[in-house]
Amino acid sequence: MKSPIFVRGEGAKLVDSNGEFWLDGASGTFNVPMGYGNEEITKQLEQGVSLPFLSSPFVARQMEEVVSKLCELAPGDLTHGSARDITGSSANERAIKAAQKASGESDVLSLFLSHHGQSSWMTAISGNAYRRRDIIDSRSPHSLKVPAPYCYRCHFKARYPSCGFLCVESINDYIEYASSGSIACFIVEPVLGNGGNIVPPPGYFEQLRKLCDERNICLIADEVQTGVGRTGYFFGSEALGLEPDMAVLAKGLGGVGLPIAAVIHREEYDVLESYEHASTGAGGLLGLSAAATTIDAVSDPEFLADIRRRGEILGEMLEELSHRYRVIGDVRGLGMMWGIEMVDPDTGAPAPELAMSIIESAFEQHNLVLRISRPPNRGNVIKVRPPLVTTEEELEQIVLRIDTTLAEFTGTQRKAQHAIGGL
Ligand SMILES: Cc1ncc(COP(=O)(O)O)c(C=O)c1O
Repeated sequence: MKSPIFVRGEGAKLVDSNGEFWLDGASGTFNVPMGYGNEEITKQLEQGVSLPFLSSPFVARQMEEVVSKLCELAPGDLTHGSARDITGSSANERAIKAAQKASGESDVLSLFLSHHGQSSWMTAISGNAYRRRDIIDSRSPHSLKVPAPYCYRCHFKARYPSCGFLCVESINDYIEYASSGSIACFIVEPVLGNGGNIVPPPGYFEQLRKLCDERNICLIADEVQTGVGRTGYFFGSEALGLEPDMAVLAKGLGGVGLPIAAVIHREEYDVLESYEHASTGAGGLLGLSAAATTIDAVSDPEFLADIRRRGEILGEMLEELSHRYRVIGDVRGLGMMWGIEMVDPDTGAPAPELAMSIIESAFEQHNLVLRISRPPNRGNVIKVRPPLVTTEEELEQIVLRIDTTLAEFTGTQRKAQHAIGGL
């Protein structure tokens, strides 16, 4: 796919050097929740331009402000934290180090299909490492992956709710027979993002919490994708009934793509010395100031309620497509975080090539940017994740463009396409 040269943006719209309007159905790399050309945030950034960076001891107050805003919004008893990371990968590492140090235990539990970053360590613990483990020796002896709550393709071929949460129950066996017996933490995405936009069924996190409590395991919510309003709640944990001991935020925290990551946690995990986890560029003033403004804007209850309202509309429109196209096996999501699982209509097998072709075609013909989930044999989920500020009209337009592309691939009639202003 040949990339256009984008020269400006407005909300979910991007304008290329030929003056053509595009719609971004992927929020950049899921890190532009406040959309393009957001004046509220860019005004703040202008003020920071003369001092884009100060060493961490001199930005302690700004970091504290970001952390206390996050703690105030977080579910459960998360009262401490830091905003001293740049990437989600390193923030996840910070969280795991703290869990290991606080407990004196070693192993890290994670889910099949999970994605926690691309550093060697995070590649090692991700259950969906694509082909990254082929080229680097990043197999951690302390990593243990367990079945995901992927009801559409249940690992146990069971059905919810009569399954009795076998995916949680089986974790006891994994710990008993496959771990070192020393478990420091369980890291989990509230919605498995890169693994296929997998939304756990109701009650899953309650069961998982119970298991972690019984076994004294620190439960870490990797909110790198689900945090900052993506699900219609500030924290995805809140939407899914997850009460974590720690939460990790990155991607959307900088509002318009500025790199900043944070970890918040219960007091007992406040154990790391500054020399045990740090990086030079972390805590830049631009990122901190963008984060503070983004948190204020996204946490507005009316804004969150409106994301939920628009998210429901988006879900209904995608669901409607699934009734007309047999190549859609499942539609799942919430808020501005949806996935369309493409399948072979006769066998139900994952159809990754079809998903990729649809994304390419949408890109080339309809000026719509979408992304796909990554596992080599299961990269069959098209992700629909526009900025949180995407209007209802723009959502309709996104779905219409997917509809048009699907119709071309399946030879089906489609609705007439109406362009909206500027598109
Ligand atoms: C759930 C999740 N965790 C962690 C990461 C890693 O974040 P980063 O790319 O900022 O290192 C990602 C990135 O895609 C992610 O989706």
